[in-house]
Amino acid sequence: MRLLVLAIPAAAWAAAWVAAKRNEPFVLVVGGDTRGYLSPCGCTKPMSGGVKRRATAIRSILAGRSGCAIENGGLAAGSGAQDRLKAEALTEVLGSVGVAALNFGPSEAKFGPGFALLAQQMLGGAVVTGSMARSQALSIEPFVVRGPLVIGGASANPEAVANPLGEKATPLSESVRELAEHARTNDLAAVLMLQGDLEAAKRLAHEFPSLSLIVYSSSGAPPAKPQRSGRVFLVSPGDKGMHLVRLSYDGGTWGSYASIKLGPETKDDSAASTIYKSYLARLGEERLLESAPRVERGAFAGSKRCAQCHAKAKKAWEDSGHYRALKTLEREGHDLDPDCVGCHVVGLDATQGFRSRTLTADLADVGCESCHGPGERHASKPSQFRMTRVGRRSCEPCHNAEHSPGFDFVRYWEKIAH
Ligand code: HEC
Ligand code: HEC
Ligand code: HEC
Ligand code: HEC
Repeated sequence: MRLLVLAIPAAAWAAAWVAAKRNEPFVLVVGGDTRGYLSPCGCTKPMSGGVKRRATAIRSILAGRSGCAIENGGLAAGSGAQDRLKAEALTEVLGSVGVAALNFGPSEAKFGPGFALLAQQMLGGAVVTGSMARSQALSIEPFVVRGPLVIGGASANPEAVANPLGEKATPLSESVRELAEHARTNDLAAVLMLQGDLEAAKRLAHEFPSLSLIVYSSSGAPPAKPQRSGRVFLVSPGDKGMHLVRLSYDGGTWGSYASIKLGPETKDDSAASTIYKSYLARLGEERLLESAPRVERGAFAGSKRCAQCHAKAKKAWEDSGHYRALKTLEREGHDLDPDCVGCHVVGLDATQGFRSRTLTADLADVGCESCHGPGERHASKPSQFRMTRVGRRSCEPCHNAEHSPGFDFVRYWEKIAH
């Protein structure tokens, strides 16, 4: 029953394609390894990536052409509550752009069978993996057929897919052999999405030289040119959702390769923006900020009290961006986002630190004690309890390579010297 439902439309699709478009190139848009980066990093311009731009790019690349978009898994970085919300939001965006296949890998399987069913529903049956035996309960196929392609998914570590779902793992070679075989008997080109690195992709290309294309996982930007191993093309979309790779299948081979950087010139897609907004709202509804991990670091006095005795520091602070750092997040709708708040307030990591603007108003924004550390005892008895020098090291937890790539202590200190 299940097979009929999936197989007939796919076959009909392929037949229609063969009849009408044999001579037209078939465009493939490849994404993957977003690792939870739904938004471009909000801290330095120009920012790249984000699901809103990705949706726009996919729609415009495919508009009026025959082709499809595929996603090589790696939706989330962890397995916590926020990771799950990110994975759901990203899957919903992929569904809204009509992604043809999502490789269900270890990062997705961690969320368990419930997420597999949800993803399957959001993507209209486009979830694939060959890493486990076909399961009645989850109805996940090892591959789908689109145009001239049969597109499969697998993980270099099949147990990491099968075990959390309570299914039986299929060895990698076995699943890839099945894909290659299906391609051969149906005169299709085999595309394998692999949750595995370039080395693993090369080994498979060597073992299965009839594969047409392997998508592998990598970090950073995609290579400038596709690689080849024998006749097998090897491509990767990089990670953190900053790029897409586009190529087209034409006359039995791959061409028109491009690595597309999702910069600010790519407009936001409206459906994806709506999905992203409701993701941010869910962070608030589920009160994730309240369960941020905390350690005992001592009592805070709050910036207002520090400022009462230190006029020069007060002036420098009020004139700086630190003074409105939480407002920045409120403006962006990220003020309840555990991914952001820690660096934009005082002591989110401390038992007596920031809770919310209402509960701990004087710990909002980057305050005196963000750099100087908890100072309640000093504020009460300044001569008895001295503050220790903190120096440039105090900037580093926040002004790191990702959020402040242009950081230079001397230049930055000049702007806030006190
Ligand atoms: C708790 C995290 C945190 C720490 C610690 C921190 N910063 Fe910042 N800094 C920020 C954030 C967040 C912003 C952006 C604020 C905004 O505009 O919303 C920022 C912005 C700045 C700016 C640009 C804003 C302006 O006023 O022009 C300078 C300069 C700066 N920081 C210097 C420093 C220096 C120097 C240190 C160490 C002595 C330091 N910061 C420590 C989080 C931090
Ligand atoms: C690791 C600490 C850190 C995290 C996490 C962080 N920020 Fe920042 N943010 C900074 C620092 C530091 C700056 C200042 C960068 C600079 O000027 O060099 C900044 C600046 C910004 C700015 C620019 C402020 C301005 O007007 O110039 C925005 C917007 C912003 N952050 C939003 C966010 C959002 C949204 C998130 C979460 C998705 C986030 N930040 C997470 C540290 C952080
Ligand atoms: C009741 C007034 C008062 C309050 C409140 C206060 N300080 Fe001080 N602070 C002092 C005095 C007095 C000194 C010593 C000045 C001197 O001897 O030059 C001092 C010195 C310091 C020093 C230099 C190192 C040291 O301990 O001598 C730093 C840094 C400092 N304060 C930061 C803070 C911070 C951060 C806060 C808020 C947590 C704060 N102060 C709150 C009065 C105060
Ligand atoms: C962005 C980080 C940062 C913030 C915010 C900040 N300071 Fe400082 N402050 C420093 C650093 C770094 C020094 C240099 C001395 C040191 O390394 O401890 C310093 C120096 C001082 C000194 C002089 C200490 C001395 O050497 O005599 C005082 C007093 C002081 N800060 C108080 C404050 C008060 C009060 C606030 C809030 C109104 C504040 N600071 C906000 C980082 C910060």
